[in-house]
Amino acid sequence: MTRVFSGVQPSGALHLGNYLGAFRQWAADQWEFDCFYCVVDLHGLTVEFDPADLRRRTLETAVGFLAAGVEPEQCTLFVQSHVHEHAELAWLIECTASFGELSRMTQFKEKSHGRESVKAGLFTYPALMAADILLYDADRVPVGDDQRQHLELTRDVALRFNHRYGETFVVPEAAVPRQAARVMDLQHPGSKMSKSAESPQGTIDLLDTPEQIAQKVRRAVTDTDGEVRYDPEHKPGLSNLLELMAAVTGRSIDDVAAAYDRYGPLKADLAEALVEALGPVRERYETYSSDPAEITALLDQGAEKAAGVASKTLARAKDAMGLLPRG
Ligand code: TYM
Repeated sequence: MTRVFSGVQPSGALHLGNYLGAFRQWAADQWEFDCFYCVVDLHGLTVEFDPADLRRRTLETAVGFLAAGVEPEQCTLFVQSHVHEHAELAWLIECTASFGELSRMTQFKEKSHGRESVKAGLFTYPALMAADILLYDADRVPVGDDQRQHLELTRDVALRFNHRYGETFVVPEAAVPRQAARVMDLQHPGSKMSKSAESPQGTIDLLDTPEQIAQKVRRAVTDTDGEVRYDPEHKPGLSNLLELMAAVTGRSIDDVAAAYDRYGPLKADLAEALVEALGPVRERYETYSSDPAEITALLDQGAEKAAGVASKTLARAKDAMGLLPRG
């Protein structure tokens, strides 16, 4: 059966980009494939963080998976640091990837740009991400567009490892959604919507109230020419709204663009469609977050199952590389 792996960092509130870029695919994949979904807390250590926040957000992120429609009986949900094989395989991958290829990662360049002190872990981050995926023999990795380059690196490293040390890893493929693979910030449509955006008005959080959603969409930055047309280069704000409307309603972007001749009605309908799509997410979040002990138990079971798979892959990789097994 096709194996799926994906992860989200617990570094902030989950937002519409995570939902459309990743979670919606996760929820669809769970009915067809064998899915492993992970809160990648070790990745959260690569930038500045507060330990108490990290702990709280790790649990909140797991609740977010369930709220977004991932069913606990359908897939394996776990926390990365509960399965020590991730950190261990990451070292073997760091010794397979090259400094040059890690230096080319645009996410590293963006996140380190202009900073005086950059953690070594931010640089080696893609090796840990490759380890996450390769440990589970994942065929398919549902992610947003911003993770494509990391997936390419994972594939390159897996192929290189197999070539040098013998067939060990499954070479995975990225599954990037056709629409809304890169949801843009509503206030700065040249940048992607993200947890760390400067203006909270630009980001729709999964737990925003209907009023907050409506207000953010109403205030979304567009342009002054007034023509409804999909043109991401010249009309990034409006094009983002058209793409969101298409992604949320399941229509094509052309259909949506043809249905409006003014921005106001498009914004009003988009706000309504988003409220309708995110309403159930908020409700499920409330239900699941009322019982943290249940979530903890679920993550515990998930870690056990994940470790069962991960330990076998790690043993295979160590053996292939010539590390002497314990007697
Ligand atoms: P992270 O935590 O930044 O984001 C989680 C998922 O949400 C997607 N996403 C978006 N999609 C569309 N538009 C946006 N504006 C947007 N913002 C975020 C991301 O593409 C991602 O799918 N490195 C990863 C986490 C990770 C991982 C993995 C993912 C670690 N190990 C192994 C897959 C497999 C990251 O930082 O995602």
